[in-house]
Amino acid sequence: MCGIVGYVGHRDCVDFLLQGLRRLEYRGYDSSGVVALTHGGRMQTAKAAGRLDKLIGRLAHSPIHGTTGVGHTRWATHGPATDENSHPHIGGDGLLAVVHNGVIENFRSLKERLEAAGYIFRSATDTEVVAHLIASYWEQEHAATSLTAAEMVEQNYEPLVRCVRAALQKLRGTYGLAVVFRDFPDVVIAAKLGSPLVVGVGDGEHFLASDSSPLVGVTDKIVYLDDHEIAVITADTLRVLHRDLGEKPADVRTLALAAGEVDKGGYEHFMLKEIFEQPDTLCNTMRGRLKPDEATAHFGGLNLSPKELRSVRRIVLTGCGTSWHAALVGEYVIEELARIPVEVEYASELRYRNPPLDDGTLVFAITQSGETADTLAAMREMKRMGHTTLAISNVVGSSIAKEAHGGIYLHAGPEIGVASTKAFTSQCVALTMLGLYLGRMRHLSPVQGARIIDDLQALPEQVRAALACDEAVRQIADKYAQCGTFLYLGRQFNFPAALEGALKLKEISYIHAEGYPAAEMKHGPIALVDENTPSVFIVPQGAVFEKVISNMEEIKARGGPVIAVTCAEGAATIGDLADDVIEVPTVADFLQPIVTAIPTQLLAYYIALRRGCDVDKPRNLAKSVTVE
Ligand code: G6P
Repeated sequence: MCGIVGYVGHRDCVDFLLQGLRRLEYRGYDSSGVVALTHGGRMQTAKAAGRLDKLIGRLAHSPIHGTTGVGHTRWATHGPATDENSHPHIGGDGLLAVVHNGVIENFRSLKERLEAAGYIFRSATDTEVVAHLIASYWEQEHAATSLTAAEMVEQNYEPLVRCVRAALQKLRGTYGLAVVFRDFPDVVIAAKLGSPLVVGVGDGEHFLASDSSPLVGVTDKIVYLDDHEIAVITADTLRVLHRDLGEKPADVRTLALAAGEVDKGGYEHFMLKEIFEQPDTLCNTMRGRLKPDEATAHFGGLNLSPKELRSVRRIVLTGCGTSWHAALVGEYVIEELARIPVEVEYASELRYRNPPLDDGTLVFAITQSGETADTLAAMREMKRMGHTTLAISNVVGSSIAKEAHGGIYLHAGPEIGVASTKAFTSQCVALTMLGLYLGRMRHLSPVQGARIIDDLQALPEQVRAALACDEAVRQIADKYAQCGTFLYLGRQFNFPAALEGALKLKEISYIHAEGYPAAEMKHGPIALVDENTPSVFIVPQGAVFEKVISNMEEIKARGGPVIAVTCAEGAATIGDLADDVIEVPTVADFLQPIVTAIPTQLLAYYIALRRGCDVDKPRNLAKSVTVE
């Protein structure tokens, strides 16, 4: 959600800015813009509502150039997606330009004050307040000092930093932001609080971005900024100033992403590539974590001793969207394998709930991006209450991963498609390994542990086999693509799988879909059933197979088309009861949501494709939701 890029160096900045914004498109946006500075005192902007191609078209028609600049993709929060509301926003009378991710909660009162002081607002955004606020401090300072660009360099840009800092102190809310100044075209000042920012270190050039993907292929040296840090970035220097710690050495790390991980690798869409990557991503999540000799799993980063883990009496799993569905899978698996009570809560609810949790509660924040605002806030609240909070995240160095006491990285590689696929299955596997680990500390025998390890080790190849349903699913998608409502039904481990299947379809094809526990369907959703409302049953063989078949009969009796996702044995029993059958390999019941996710992901993908939807960038959605 919203993206920032920046450049200071010896090249024309616009090339990097546009290429970087292209890489950030996946986060979700509805307008974009760039600003470039030249040494002749020119600060030129270009902005466009809509897709990035529109901005690129405008720039082809009226190019802008400069060796310093910043760019932005905006996901509208305050004011609709229009050219005027796109970033960058200008402060004062063309003094400076700001791009901003996050939300300024007190923007109304600040705006009133700035308007009273004569500042003219041209947009409905909260960001423009930041631009004018910095300008107002600069105008006070500049009136007193009238510094030249050379004097500013001598003073290490301190007067500019003072103004930015003074403005930041007035803001309530979250920001990742970058400021450029018309009269000082060799510097970008960036600041972070609650919205990620990274700096790429090059040779005689620096890059700025709201995540690491724009840096891939341009530099492998990366600095992750922390909350309350300000970065003063020139071509040759990078100073990092912390609100409380003063100036600190920049912690330059190596970025371990290859270009192939952020491109489509020959697939038509990132989502399809990510679906097909799952045999490998599951291996990566498990790599080095299964210990067959002790019949258990182990994790390097939980930062809790076996004694502390043995005293856990309750687990809370929290997250949003697909990660919340993975949490539901985790609830079934951990309770089954470890016999520890598990509670799953939407992060957006948990943050305001004040639940009475006893000592011995372990809280896991589950999040692909590691940046979801509600999940971060819920985790902070749990921490504040004194609970140990751990993260299960895919993004190394993300805010949630950094603030947690410890955690588990998924190592699934960058997920670019907005609809989460490979992160979901990796989350399910991470939670299963966790269940095994905690179970082996309690009642699971070595024999039981060894069997679970065998099941896990076989899983990647079974997922590969499940992917063979691709063509069959494509045909089923063609058949039902014009239906207006779908039901997804499953029980036990496959209830969360049904929820996730319905979410996938909603997200990318804009078809109304409801996920339900199959038996609960009688208490409402069955009223939706008619010949144009397909029901997708997630019904592999297992303890509740017969029960779900009865639910299938109930749908059939009302004329609803049935699509069954099942294993070979199940298919034989289901026979003609289902209009369409998709077969997946037989796996242990607690791993079923992982293999059955494959056909439901593909079904959503092909239906969306058939309906002409923008699969990787669905309308209104963002990959990483950094606002409440
Ligand atoms: C957004 C995305 C979803 C994702 C959810 C939680 O809504 O579009 O795909 O499941 O955020 O994101 P997280 O990064 O915390 O898993």
